[in-house]
Amino acid sequence: MSVVPERRPGPVPLDGIRLRPATQGDLPSCGEIWRDGLNDYMGRLNLPEIPPELGPIGRLHRHLQATDPERFWVATRDAGPPGDDGTSGGADRPIAFASATRRDEVWFLSMLFVRPGDQGRGIGSALLRRIRPADSAALATGTDSAQPISNALYARHGMVPRMPLLSLSGRPDRQETLGELPSGITPVPFAAIAAGAPDGAGHRELSAAVDALDRESAGFTHPQDHRFLRAEGRTGFLYRGPDGAPVGYGYASEVGRVGPVAVRDEALLAPVVGHLLSAVEPRDASAVWVPGQADRTLIALLAAGMRLDGFPVLLCWSRPFADFGRYLPISPGLL
Ligand SMILES: CC(C)(COP(=O)(O)OP(=O)(O)OC[C@H]1O[C@@H](n2cnc3c(N)ncnc32)[C@H](O)[C@@H]1OP(=O)(O)O)[C@@H](O)C(=O)NCCC(=O)NCCS
Repeated sequence: MSVVPERRPGPVPLDGIRLRPATQGDLPSCGEIWRDGLNDYMGRLNLPEIPPELGPIGRLHRHLQATDPERFWVATRDAGPPGDDGTSGGADRPIAFASATRRDEVWFLSMLFVRPGDQGRGIGSALLRRIRPADSAALATGTDSAQPISNALYARHGMVPRMPLLSLSGRPDRQETLGELPSGITPVPFAAIAAGAPDGAGHRELSAAVDALDRESAGFTHPQDHRFLRAEGRTGFLYRGPDGAPVGYGYASEVGRVGPVAVRDEALLAPVVGHLLSAVEPRDASAVWVPGQADRTLIALLAAGMRLDGFPVLLCWSRPFADFGRYLPISPGLL
């Protein structure tokens, strides 16, 4: 029997608030709501503020809205009578937004943010009910462990906090703790595979290998997110076993982001992360998201000198779908 209560249908009983699908034009406001929502509670915890630069979150929002437009909704104020100067007084400008992805049988709540002055009056809950799937998809999200409101709200929808997702950053000064890639395992840049066979055959081989690894470790495929990662400048590597068969993949980038990573054998995760940390020299520090289940990789990264950042994120789900001992997600906002 499902522990997830039935979705409550029908109109949303919120006076003066309208819910509608987001447009591209709403996305700058969504970036500001995201920053203001985080700064509001992080400030109260004496944590550093989110910098004003909204470029990366804006690009993520554009990706989410492009791949899942029916799951990206905003809340606005109903247009009242025009003001004395004839303007609508900010009506139809978003005051909250929610965005989710659907990848095979996994629905992932990527973002839910309400402007600080409008929180606690049912808007977040209404948006969540609006974009929640009606079928039996697994529901999942990542939530800040220091945020009881969202933790409670998501748990009530069946997305129970199950596993910490830890952010590590810095540069490893004792990389040997991660271990060498076993002999016979060869990293091959995605670009070499894509260019290695004529008429798009290299692309097709790579996509098939990545999809198979994702299905096995993450529990879903997400070619659209891989295209986004490459457009974001992440460099992918496919790891081949002695017989040439794919045994894992991973990404690194010059801005220092390592991940996502998927491996067939859990023991390969730490050496693959070790390889990625050195394969692309970052301009500054490296950063990687590690789920608690990937214990050996976490221990090895700490022993190598990487540092934990801030509070953990909590990965929440309604039913298990991934093996987080073999899959490092992209970020808390995009599995
Ligand atoms: C989290 C957030 C999206 C929720 O939206 P909201 O509009 O403020 O929330 P709602 O009023 O719709 O619902 C909150 C529910 O949680 C309940 N709640 C709040 N604190 C709780 C607690 N400590 N324990 C249990 N339930 C709690 C409220 O009672 C309410 O339930 P009710 O409607 O049945 O009374 C919003 O507060 C927000 O944007 N916060 C800052 C950014 C953030 O943390 N986003 C999530 C990132 S992980």
